[in-house]
Amino acid sequence: MHVRLVFAAGIVLTGLILANFHSAVIGAQPPDGKAIFLVNCAVCHQATGRGGGPYPPLAGNPDVNQVDSANLIQTVLNGRTGPITVNGTQYGGNMPSWRGQLSDGQIAAVLTYVRTAWQNGAPAVSEDQVAAARAPEALSGAELFAVKCSTCHQPAGQGTDVYPPLAGNPVVTAADASAMIGVIVNGRTGPITVNSKTFNSQMPTWKGQLTDASIAAVATYIRSAWGNNASPVTEEQVAGIGSPVSVQVGASVFAKNCAACHQAAGEGGIGPALAGNPHVNIGNPTAMLTTILQGRNAMPSWRGQLAASDIAAVATFIRSSWGNNAGPVTVQDVMAIK
Ligand code: HEC
Ligand code: HEC
Ligand code: HEC
Repeated sequence: MHVRLVFAAGIVLTGLILANFHSAVIGAQPPDGKAIFLVNCAVCHQATGRGGGPYPPLAGNPDVNQVDSANLIQTVLNGRTGPITVNGTQYGGNMPSWRGQLSDGQIAAVLTYVRTAWQNGAPAVSEDQVAAARAPEALSGAELFAVKCSTCHQPAGQGTDVYPPLAGNPVVTAADASAMIGVIVNGRTGPITVNSKTFNSQMPTWKGQLTDASIAAVATYIRSAWGNNASPVTEEQVAGIGSPVSVQVGASVFAKNCAACHQAAGEGGIGPALAGNPHVNIGNPTAMLTTILQGRNAMPSWRGQLAASDIAAVATFIRSSWGNNAGPVTVQDVMAIK
């Protein structure tokens, strides 16, 4: 009896091993990138890869043909929203995240297809590259800080002569985290004064390098480590910061630097009203930007005080708030002002 049972178990086990062997052989066939594309992507990007409407083309798209595939992998893993310019045309739709829908191997296969179809000609994407891009999400905020940030800001957030401290930094601990998230998402260059010491170097852009969830985790960490004691940052807040010129960042720049004179609702005080102001609400922002950058009479010059991205953000904010209704200002618009 006993012997028969062991024998029966042996047969079952052999069957399992064979079944596993069989599925391993099938699994060894690489996923079919073209089939994955037709099922999941062609509805927006079209089978021809030419896109249309809010959907950018993937055929002949220089981003898709870049040798370095890191940004593409991030786009497919995490999705992206917001204006994107491809071959001179601006698109602004919502690319879904495929993180939970497709495996590393499937994402590698579909991207390899996209990078070689329709006369595109870029190197293949490997499963390992996708796995590595996916991995950081598993790291905690503290681990991300150690790996990505501590070389510059130092392990205890104390900074150096070149890199500002994050410990005891009022921007990091502000109740409204938007400005800080904006710096992490979009980077920042130019002078910055922290606790009356001025730094002037470059903070890298982390959009495309870290997922929104990872940025939220590391942002939460720096707001709560080393005696800092501010509220956590959510993935939604990070996603809301979006493109470099963010109205949310603009609102926060305005509250900090402009509201003292122009008042919180732009109704004017020491400075003129910006709400309903024809010089603000105008198609071409050049004259308004010149005033902001160079100053005029009692209006201070903000050149060198605020980063170009912050000036673009605050200009976009004042042009779209309190009933104003003029178009956004880009970082390039700001850089063009002499
Ligand atoms: C629901 C529509 C939709 C689907 C489905 C979709 N995409 Fe997208 N995709 C977009 C939009 C919209 C953008 C541009 C997003 C933006 O404006 O930021 C985009 C952007 C991209 C980009 C970046 C292009 C660039 O210039 O950087 C890549 C690569 C891409 N998609 C690949 C894919 C792949 C691969 C799939 C299938 C797994 C897919 N997309 C499925 C809508 C879609
Ligand atoms: C290569 C060096 C470098 C790395 C790496 C780096 N930073 Fe920075 N960071 C800077 C510099 C330089 C500034 C100041 C920028 C300026 O002068 O405009 C800065 C500014 C900041 C600020 C704004 C502080 C303020 O007072 O407004 C925050 C927040 C920040 N970094 C967080 C991070 C986080 C989080 C990471 C990791 C994901 C990180 N940094 C990685 C160099 C770095
Ligand atoms: C110290 C007070 C003060 C601060 C702070 C200040 N402004 Fe002004 N602003 C003024 C004054 C005063 C004027 C009018 C200048 C003049 O009479 O020529 C002005 C004018 C302007 C104008 C031109 C309006 C027009 O009708 O031409 C804009 C735009 C503007 N400010 C935006 C900003 C922004 C954006 C900020 C923050 C980054 C800011 N200001 C911060 C005082 C200030």
